[in-house]
This record gives sequence, C-alpha cells and structure tokens, in this order.
Amino acid sequence: MGGDAGSSGVDPARVAALKEREDAAFVAARPRSAQIWSAGRSVMPNGVPMSWLRTSYDHPPLFVDSASGSRLRDVDGHEYADFNIADMSMFTGYGPQPVVDAVSRQVGAGSQYLLPTEDSVWVAAELGRRYGLPLWQFTLAATGANTEVIRVARALTGRPKVLFFDGKYHGHFDDVLVELEDGRLVAEEAGLPHDVTARTLVVPFNDLDALERALADRDVAIVITEPALTNNVGLLLPDDGFHDGLRDVTRRTGTLLAYDETHTQVVGPGGLTRRWRLQPDLVTVGKSIAAGIPLGAYGMTPDVAEVLQRPGGRDADKPQVAVGGTLFGNPVSMAAARATMSEVLTDDAYAHSQRLGTRLADGLAQIVATSGMAWTTHRFWPRSGLSFGPVMPRTAAEATETFDVPLRRLMRVYLANRGVWDAIVGAGPTCSVAASDEDVDAYLAAFGSLMTELG
Ligand SMILES: Cc1ncc(COP(=O)(O)O)c(C=O)c1O
Repeated sequence: MGGDAGSSGVDPARVAALKEREDAAFVAARPRSAQIWSAGRSVMPNGVPMSWLRTSYDHPPLFVDSASGSRLRDVDGHEYADFNIADMSMFTGYGPQPVVDAVSRQVGAGSQYLLPTEDSVWVAAELGRRYGLPLWQFTLAATGANTEVIRVARALTGRPKVLFFDGKYHGHFDDVLVELEDGRLVAEEAGLPHDVTARTLVVPFNDLDALERALADRDVAIVITEPALTNNVGLLLPDDGFHDGLRDVTRRTGTLLAYDETHTQVVGPGGLTRRWRLQPDLVTVGKSIAAGIPLGAYGMTPDVAEVLQRPGGRDADKPQVAVGGTLFGNPVSMAAARATMSEVLTDDAYAHSQRLGTRLADGLAQIVATSGMAWTTHRFWPRSGLSFGPVMPRTAAEATETFDVPLRRLMRVYLANRGVWDAIVGAGPTCSVAASDEDVDAYLAAFGSLMTELG
C-alpha cells in the first residue's frame, strides 16, 4: 500500500480520502437522524442524552428505531448486523424473549420496593457458581460495582491507594480516571479534583517488576484489572505467568485483588476467572449480565464480606462502608438477570458465539494475509479484532505505537454504510449469542471490500 505509511502501514492520504467519501455517504443516507439530532441540539448539549453517544463515534449520531436479535435498525430504515452490541452490553442479542417476559411480569408486579425479592438470592447463587466467589452485592452498573469494591477494600485494609494497569477502563469515577503520560500520573479528563492522582497508581500491564515496586510500601488497598485488557487500544493479553505473579505479589503485600469481568464475561460462564482458574478476592461484572437492563454486581470471599457485615452505621461507634443506592439490586434488574443467566447466556449460547468469533477471526486473518499487511488478528472467543503490527502488543504503550485511529474510524463508517455496525474504535467486533453466519459474512465482505480499496 503506497504513499506515506501511517502507523498501520496504510497510506494516511488514502484513508483520509476514503473517509471523506464514506462520511458524505453516511450523512446523505440518514436525513431523519439528522433531523432528530437537530431538534436534540436545542434541548441537550451535543444533541444527545449522554455525551458518549456523540463522542464515541466519529460521525453524526445515528438515532435508533429498534433492534432484535443481532440486528439494529435506524430511523432512516437501515439495518445493521451489530458487532458493537452496545460496547458488549447486549451480548445477549436484542429482546431475548425470556427477558422480555420476566421484565414485563416484574414491571406489572412493581418495579421497585426498596425491599429484596427472591430472584436476588437465585442471581447471587448463580454468579457464585459461575465465578467461584460465594457472596455478592448489586449496583446499577459496573462503574458502581468498581466504586464499591474500592470502598470495601479501603475499609478492610485501612489503606488509601488503588492500583490499575495502563490502558485500563473501569468506569467513570474519580479513582480510575488517572492515566500515565510519559511516565507521570495525570488526570484523564476535566472536572476531576486537582489531587485526583494522589491515591491512584498506574503501572504498565504485564510488568511484574513495576507492580512489585508500586506495592512495596503496603499502602495500596486493592489492584483492579481486567484479566485481559479489552478497552482503548484493542486487546492486551497477559503474559504466561502474569496472573500468578500478580496474585503472589498482592498476597505478599496484603493487597486485595479484583478482576473486572464486565467485558470478559462474554468468554463463557464465569468469564476468564473461571477459564484461567484465577483466584481473586473480588470480581465485578455488569453490562450484559442482565441483558442490558441496568445491573452491576461484585462477588467476594467471606473474608472480604466481613467488613460489610460488621455492626456499624448510626447505632454503633464505627461508620458503615459507604455503599448502596435506592435502585441498586432492584426487582426488575434481578428478574432480568435471572432470565438472562437461566435461559439466554447458556453453555450452548456461549459455544455458538465462540464458533462465530473464531469464524470472524479466521476470515479477518485471511483478508489481512491476502492484503500483504503485517497485521495481527486475535482470537478472543466471541470477539476478534486487529492489531496493526506484526505481533500482539503486551502493553498499552506498545499498542499505541501501531494503533491507527484514522483507519479504525474509516473502518467503522465504511462498514456502517454496508450494513455492519462495527465495534467502537478502541475495541474489537464481538459476536453476540444472537449473531449468525450471515452476520459474520456481512462483516467479512465489507472489510474485504475496504481492504481492496486501500490496496
Ligand atoms: C472493563 C469495564 N469495567 C467497567 C466498565 C463500566 O461499565 P458501565 O459504564 O456500564 O458502568 C466498562 C465499560 O466499558 C468496562 O469496559
């Protein structure tokens, strides 16, 4: 591929020219979305109810009409085979009947009581069976689960700090919105307290020496990580022995260890914790666990749970741990989670999505090989994706070196114009349990056509 090579080896001028053409086609074919967006701009900043609905995409917002199974339909009548699945939160596919029935029943019987329902016991037990941790608490999303896990860890250890790996994403709250910039800790976005970096440490993924040094002062309450980092720059897989080393150093320094399975739960019941026989003190989940009905959860060992069961609060001398929310663990979320885990995210359903994920990865690898590009295709059960270098990156810094944002943005809009809704730029396409061979074929055909045009 001629001209000045970008970080991926593709000519940036060619990418820019195709992007301009595809953006124009995208806008021209979606007049109704444009009209609604225009009305939205007079009542909502950026014209959308939540800023990511504008900033996650590099084209004007698409307004959705409806979705079912693996297919999303916009208000202009275009249908898409969906591989973004709402950033993995619709891994169940859209509108699975058992969840529709359970949620309808529960809304009819009362959406909320601020009292528990029996479903919560079933859901906690099933999460325990899947993830191997016996005791669970619930929030409304993974962000809330990670927030509470940190509070629990601070209360239990009496230590102030938390540690994450570079390239992570665990939600939008102060403790995690700190990143490494040229080796320095900096606030990731605006609106955070000026001392937000005071209690958060970030070290490179797969760097056990850096981790050992960071935990040596024994002032870190908890390390939270995805078992494999799935956000921001594609996929970072752990080196052989990384998780053993992580568990060893956290144990030696009295630091708690939590795995965030919010995304990686798609690899099978129990996520990577179960697949890789990991031994965390806590696990957090969210997104698809209740088929997109808001629910976050965290599981813990009895030793950790003890801090939540201590007498406390206004009748005792010790404050209770700062957890809870009016809608957390509500009956609708619980009914949805029960239906999801008992009837939708079954072993067979996971196996189906994995077969399609492999097929997608095989197809991508073949197209890349034909193009002659020195790119790497990864296989991550139902998910796949590309690294624009000859080997998989091991750290976020390595991944950033070859990550080609303009090319990924072009891919997204190019595929959208051909009826395929690709993963957001920093992620990889995931086959939901409702996806089909035809969906995978559509993805590969559109990607193949783009590669031909880039050639
Ligand atoms: C690993 C991980 N944890 C937590 C979250 C936060 O999820 P939510 O925005 O649903 O709270 C995300 C969202 O992308 C995530 O990828």
